[in-house]
Amino acid sequence: MGKRHLLTIVDVGKRFGGVSALDKCSVEFESGKITAVIGPNGAGKSTLLNCISGALVPDSGSIRLFDDDVTGAKPHILARKGLARTFQISRELSSLTLLENLLLADRPSDPMSFFAPVFRRARVLDEQAEAVNRAMGLLRRVGLDRLADETASALSGGQKKLLELSRALMLKPRVVLLDEPAAGVAPPMVKVLIEVIRDLHAEGVDFVLVEHNMDMVAALSDEVVVMAEGTPLMRGDFKAVTTDARVAEAYLGGVV
Ligand SMILES: Nc1ncnc2c1ncn2[C@@H]1O[C@H](COP(=O)(O)OP(=O)(O)OP(=O)(O)O)[C@@H](O)[C@H]1O
Ligand SMILES: [Mg+2]
Repeated sequence: MGKRHLLTIVDVGKRFGGVSALDKCSVEFESGKITAVIGPNGAGKSTLLNCISGALVPDSGSIRLFDDDVTGAKPHILARKGLARTFQISRELSSLTLLENLLLADRPSDPMSFFAPVFRRARVLDEQAEAVNRAMGLLRRVGLDRLADETASALSGGQKKLLELSRALMLKPRVVLLDEPAAGVAPPMVKVLIEVIRDLHAEGVDFVLVEHNMDMVAALSDEVVVMAEGTPLMRGDFKAVTTDARVAEAYLGGVV
């Protein structure tokens, strides 16, 4: 059986002034796998996720999701096609409760319509009840259901990452792009995140995992892509890439 392409990125370029964040970046992500993207600070990992998810429009090149050309597509269009993401810095709405955070995430194109009284009709109430059930189920999965009615500002850094993941899952995605879910998260909570991601993958959700935490990369990745200076340097399994001399050199180069 041939490889199934989830995402095909071809020759994508993205500059910020004089900085070339992505430079003719070509990479494929297969469905049925968790692919990790690693590399030194500034390698272009977040910019790649931003271009795929519609947060940034590439200067050049093309991006396909499943069989569709989605180059430059807006995030809510991509969400409808089954793509969700989390951010390197959690984006919870701190004055809202956890449950409200999830309910808003359900309507990326028009968040405020949820609260509009004009929509309080029977069909919408049914939809809302379904969304509340789904939100509570997701909070239970990530172990935050007890805190459903607390404001998000009360959460620890690790709990915010779990909330961020559950927000992405409200859209019932087929693929989730994760930007450093383990950053700033205490080791026991990293274990929880690993279990949640592993279970979701077993249920058919694919992941692209940008991560510096090598315990998480080792635990989750089927394949690892190493980025350096805006383009992939190599790909292989965890052991192959972490023992490769070029990869070690790229990391050292990034530090200096
Ligand atoms: N919005 C922006 N404006 C200006 N420069 C940017 C912007 N976003 C990224 N860059 C620059 O583009 C390059 C790639 O950044 P990017 O955030 O994609 O790296 P990264 O691999 O995610 O790094 P890290 O591991 O530190 O998160 C860096 O030189 C960065 O300073
Ligand atoms: Mg980044």
